[in-house]
Amino acid sequence: MIETVDVVYGLAWGDEGKGKISAALAPKYDWVCRWNGGPNAGHTVWVNGKKHKTHIIPSGIFAGKRCLIGPGCVINPDKFFEEIRYLRSEGFDTSLVKISPAAHIITQAHIDYDKRHLGHLGTTGQGIAPCYSDKMLRCGRRAAEYFISEWLWDGKLDGRVLCEGAQSVWLDIDHGDYPYVTSSTTMPYGACSLGFSPRKINRIIGVAKAYDTKSGTDPLFPTSLWDDPQIDALIREGGEYGTTTGRKRLANWLNLDKLIAAAEASGCSEMVINKWDVLQRVGVFKCIHNGSIVEFKDAGEMKTYLIRELATGAIPELHDVRFSDSPETI
Ligand code: IMP
Ligand code: MG
Repeated sequence: MIETVDVVYGLAWGDEGKGKISAALAPKYDWVCRWNGGPNAGHTVWVNGKKHKTHIIPSGIFAGKRCLIGPGCVINPDKFFEEIRYLRSEGFDTSLVKISPAAHIITQAHIDYDKRHLGHLGTTGQGIAPCYSDKMLRCGRRAAEYFISEWLWDGKLDGRVLCEGAQSVWLDIDHGDYPYVTSSTTMPYGACSLGFSPRKINRIIGVAKAYDTKSGTDPLFPTSLWDDPQIDALIREGGEYGTTTGRKRLANWLNLDKLIAAAEASGCSEMVINKWDVLQRVGVFKCIHNGSIVEFKDAGEMKTYLIRELATGAIPELHDVRFSDSPETI
């Protein structure tokens, strides 16, 4: 029997620090599950002062929880085993990791196609779109065909379940800035593909960031912004380089119009806005609201403004907004 399902997901373009939030919540759950994406994701988690990066294995592994890679995920087996070996060498119990037999397998042909034909979309080159395409064409290979039974798990989830999103609202295949999106459902309702009713979902915890970034291409983020020394300082201070690709991210001030729309579309019940230490170090506090830049004298003034504007009633279910720093600061 499922006792509760809570969902952690991104409200922007990824890289908001979801890994930090789900790793902090994980100890209270029996299961931590991924429902979408694959090795395109990069989660940074700090455990006892040491930085760990994962791409496909849920961050519940760091809390010794059962971890499920769901049917909506795509797996590159070589990368999966590389991650397993790393986690094992760091002393984490990898026997807790299970894969849905219905998850799809990324092949070398998927990776080659991605690298050869999808560069103009700024993909991570991990074979994500071609793999999901084959899934939809119903000619893909599933985990059941590839993995030995030790790794597979097709049962029902039980107890307390935390679902960990990858990518974010504006990368969602249906709701994002198409075609500059990924190929999966990043919206919290996508978590139901793990095998439970939408009625089971309790907390819908959206993670945002004190400023915006995008990995890859997007006309919403002109590269000319890189010429702005304050934006450049954001990238430098925030370490805004892709976890998976190492690429310099596109950046801009927090777009509050987009954040409100993201929270509204996804049914966000609690929000965490991360990386305030970065704005603090840059010493500039700005956001974009109603299409114009609003500037604040300090972090306190900006936080008060955000809370007020997020509480206008556009998102009735949103009852809690919190602020946090970079992952490395806990
Ligand atoms: P793909 O998922 O590799 O096809 O990439 C499609 C778009 O999503 C590109 O703009 C990527 O940079 C972006 N993207 C995919 N995964 C992530 C992620 O985990 N964080 C941030 N951006 C991502
Ligand atoms: Mg990431």
